[in-house]
Amino acid sequence: MTVAVLTGVPGVGATTVADEANEILTERDAEYEVVSFGTVMLEVARDEGLVEERDEMRKLPSDEQRRVQEQAGERIAERAEETNIMVDTHCTIKTPEGYLPGLPEWVLRGLQPDIVVLVETDPDEIMFRRLDDETRARDMESTREIATHQDMNRNAAMSYATLTGATVKIVENPDGGVEEAAEELADALE
Ligand code: AP5
Repeated sequence: MTVAVLTGVPGVGATTVADEANEILTERDAEYEVVSFGTVMLEVARDEGLVEERDEMRKLPSDEQRRVQEQAGERIAERAEETNIMVDTHCTIKTPEGYLPGLPEWVLRGLQPDIVVLVETDPDEIMFRRLDDETRARDMESTREIATHQDMNRNAAMSYATLTGATVKIVENPDGGVEEAAEELADALE
């Protein structure tokens, strides 16, 4: 079974690209299950009465986030035993206490990803996508802060690769470029 980890700063469009790539892969008989790490964490955190909404999770004390993260990682690793999965998640999460690794060693050990994908685009475009998304309580950051977060994610992705032997692939998702990004991702996962 293939385990692909799909990442990107919030609002870059990683979820949009994952869903579209999965449609292409299904047409090619190379099915994946797309699992949102954030959704599984939300299930765990809601069961424990810690949060009500997904955007509250990155504001929790970091030790609570780590504990919830570990449980979510275990649930996802179990699913990966049965099917190819695309894990929609983050290389780093920007918390009030600093950047939290999205895939610390104890999560990686269970998941054993084959490929880590970074979905990226220009920080200006990401800023406007966040502003346009009224469905979420997105963090408002300067383009400089978004660029720093993308740098942190690249660094984190290479350390995850060093620990697991996974490859790291960068997929550009510029404005209006979802289809091309999804094709590129599907080609890498087929
Ligand atoms: P998560 O559910 O992953 O939410 P998120 O961080 O807000 O990221 P999204 O997935 O919603 O954004 P996206 O980049 O996929 O953008 P989208 O496709 O929606 O995580 C929730 C929380 O869970 C995190 O905050 C964190 O607390 C926690 N968490 C998750 N993983 C964790 C881990 N490993 N460890 C610890 N905590 C973890 O697109 C955004 C907008 O852009 C849309 O309007 C879309 O239409 C538009 N768009 C996309 N592509 C394009 C394009 N090419 N051109 C124009 N518009 C575009």
